[in-house]
Amino acid sequence: MQKVDIKEELQYIEKVKEINQNRTLQYYILTMGCQLNENDSEKLSGMLEKMNYQKTEEMKEADLVLFNTCCVRENAEEKLFGKVGEVKKQKEEKGTIIAIGGCMMQEEHIVKKLKQSYPYVDIIFGTHTLHKLPKDLYKALEENKKIRDIIDIDGEIIEGLPISRNDHKKASVTIMNGCNNFCSYCIVPYVRGRERSREPKDILNEIKGLAKEGYKEITLLGQNVNSYLRVEREKKIEFEEYEGVNSFATLLRAVNNIEGIERIRFISPHPKDFTEDVIEAIRDCNKVCKLIHLPLQSGSSQVLKIMNRKYTKEQYLNLVERMKKTIPNVVFTTDIIVGFPGETEEDFEDTLEVVKQVKFEQVFMFIYSRRVGTPGDRMENQIPEEMKHKRFNRLKELVENQIAENNQTYLGTIQKVIVEGTSKNNEKMLTGRTDSNKVVIFEGKEELIGTMVQIKIVSEHMWYLKGKIEKGC
Ligand code: 5AD
Ligand code: SF4
Repeated sequence: MQKVDIKEELQYIEKVKEINQNRTLQYYILTMGCQLNENDSEKLSGMLEKMNYQKTEEMKEADLVLFNTCCVRENAEEKLFGKVGEVKKQKEEKGTIIAIGGCMMQEEHIVKKLKQSYPYVDIIFGTHTLHKLPKDLYKALEENKKIRDIIDIDGEIIEGLPISRNDHKKASVTIMNGCNNFCSYCIVPYVRGRERSREPKDILNEIKGLAKEGYKEITLLGQNVNSYLRVEREKKIEFEEYEGVNSFATLLRAVNNIEGIERIRFISPHPKDFTEDVIEAIRDCNKVCKLIHLPLQSGSSQVLKIMNRKYTKEQYLNLVERMKKTIPNVVFTTDIIVGFPGETEEDFEDTLEVVKQVKFEQVFMFIYSRRVGTPGDRMENQIPEEMKHKRFNRLKELVENQIAENNQTYLGTIQKVIVEGTSKNNEKMLTGRTDSNKVVIFEGKEELIGTMVQIKIVSEHMWYLKGKIEKGC
């Protein structure tokens, strides 16, 4: 595996720190998009904090404003341009440094628009140059240059960056990056490059370190998390097997053995990569949550084919059945796109039918959004916005009814909950999540934060459950 040498970047951290030596500077970071981006932002924060910047939640107080962007759907673009416009005055008044990074910066038309309409932006970096922020910042500060640091490569592995995590009990660990699937609606393969996995040893050492620091819950992340090491095995790219890890299934087993970790989740998998060994590992590993995210995208075999998803409605339902048979009490969440080009009423009804059949714990619903450069954008039979919205609302109604119905089944049950903190809406209450990722609110002392407790569910509400502590574990 090709690891990037970050020696030079670490030296630039020292150089910027020297420039900032006698000053307390503040940074503001806005992260758009998925948990992979959140994890990247934790690395950006880690670097900034090593360079004497402290985090602020107030953009107007910041000496450095950083936007970490997402381009999976259209609405993020308007949000970004709005924010960049908002920070202009602040820059004029106190010289705030503006940096923009992430997926959207890998899109040519966006960078062009930024250059033309927002020339005051100091640093633009892409998904493959995140680790270069210290050097880019040095140049912006010392040489007063505008930096455009974007490269278009297949992607390498970066290890050893400092990290400042958002949470002290739950941690995300990126295990692979990129995507080779090219679903026809999706921009990700164009902006995140080809699939590449981290070395097993680097991942396991990171998680062991987290366990020592007191982290209880690990979420393994990847654009195609369950195809971990698949490309390396197929293309005979060298990697070092470590503690028996040479696949996603063996990685789950190895993480399950790490003392101190109590819960393991993973996102986002592809249905085609749920091989038998992965299903069996989920069954066997007591810490792996039996809540599986299984992105459906559409319930119509015809639409799935045009989406290039590589499975049919029947194959998806078969996989659900196989998993149900092998893994006791398994439940599912999913992603669905409504209004993909050419989607007919019948196609949409197929989607509704799968939703009715599988009874998902949660459905993340998206209105199809045209992404420049993808095959979907070039298709002629785009669905009118009004129809997309109508279908979206029909799906939403079905999903909400199902969730309300499903919530009833929790009443009176005892759930394992990792206590995350006090509830945002009521400081006297604690909050945490069940294995199935449901938010639970209950009374308890603050010293329980970070522990696992058993909660009896006493009432249900649309988006959360209320309970009483049965006992701490
Ligand atoms: N339009 C709408 N939704 C999309 N997603 C990905 N690309 C698009 C698009 N162009 C959704 C998919 C994916 C989730 C992360 O975002 O459902 O699983
Ligand atoms: Fe996008 Fe499909 Fe890759 Fe997921 S698997 S990132 S939806 S192309």
